[in-house]
Amino acid sequence: MPKTALLTGTSRAVGLGFAAARLLSELDYHVILTARDLARAESLAAQLPNATALRLDLTDHSTMTAAADYAAQTFGRLDVLINNASDIVDFAALSALDADPAAVQSALDIDVLGPWQLTQLVLPLLKAAPAHSFAKHALNTLTGVLATAPRDTPILVNAVDPGETATHPERGDEDTARPALESARGVGWAATLPPGGPTGGLFRDGQLVLSLLPGTENTAGPDRDRSGPAAGKPLLRQDQ
Ligand SMILES: NC(=O)c1ccc[n+]([C@@H]2O[C@H](COP(=O)([O-])OP(=O)(O)OC[C@H]3O[C@@H](n4cnc5c(N)ncnc54)[C@H](OP(=O)(O)O)[C@@H]3O)[C@@H](O)[C@H]2O)c1
Repeated sequence: MPKTALLTGTSRAVGLGFAAARLLSELDYHVILTARDLARAESLAAQLPNATALRLDLTDHSTMTAAADYAAQTFGRLDVLINNASDIVDFAALSALDADPAAVQSALDIDVLGPWQLTQLVLPLLKAAPAHSFAKHALNTLTGVLATAPRDTPILVNAVDPGETATHPERGDEDTARPALESARGVGWAATLPPGGPTGGLFRDGQLVLSLLPGTENTAGPDRDRSGPAAGKPLLRQDQ
């Protein structure tokens, strides 16, 4: 049985999700590409040797249940969940006081509540696998809380900051940002951490940026007495 990874928001060929899926596919993972638009996920899955496409909308609980059921029935376990999908309100361009409440609600649904529910749904599958890692940027607080939850299991819960990545050519980001495949290496690193690796951390390119564990922010590493690639590394400033 191959190792299996499920990724959300893999609808765009230039997106970080598909880049991470390609890396995991090269490592012989079976990747489950999910997107709101099934046809888009299918066209990306067709480019990989071991991939399945499913419809998954983080605002539609029934699609998350169906995806978890599919993984359970087909593979019986999940080695990696990558909460990649996002719909972040751009507070850099817009004052938080002027934000459209509907847009904020949508961002919370897609970036926090949806991944939270999906994590709950697939937790039994993650527990059924021998070793795990779970990467997601922009869920730092939730990541830290979740990292403390699956005690007595080898499940690792980490966030990855991919850095400025050229995933939106329509915005001209290719001039200032690096290619998705380059950024996805840090996602692949977090997704393939060995048992006993670091957990509850925010990482960039395999380097610890910040501990996300409750009560340890800026004061301790995320290793929870486990040895790992980030053990003993100095904490850097969060640059998200
Ligand atoms: N690119 C960067 O420079 C950068 C920097 C820091 C962090 N990140 C983070 O890295 C991740 C990937 O970034 P990206 O730039 O490749 O992608 P993105 O454009 O931020 O979003 C990824 C995907 O999320 C999907 N999505 C939106 N709403 C959804 C919903 N309700 N259910 C399921 N999927 C939904 C979108 O698919 P559809 O709209 O096609 O359905 C989109 O393709 C994101 O979490 C992002 O916040 C990116």
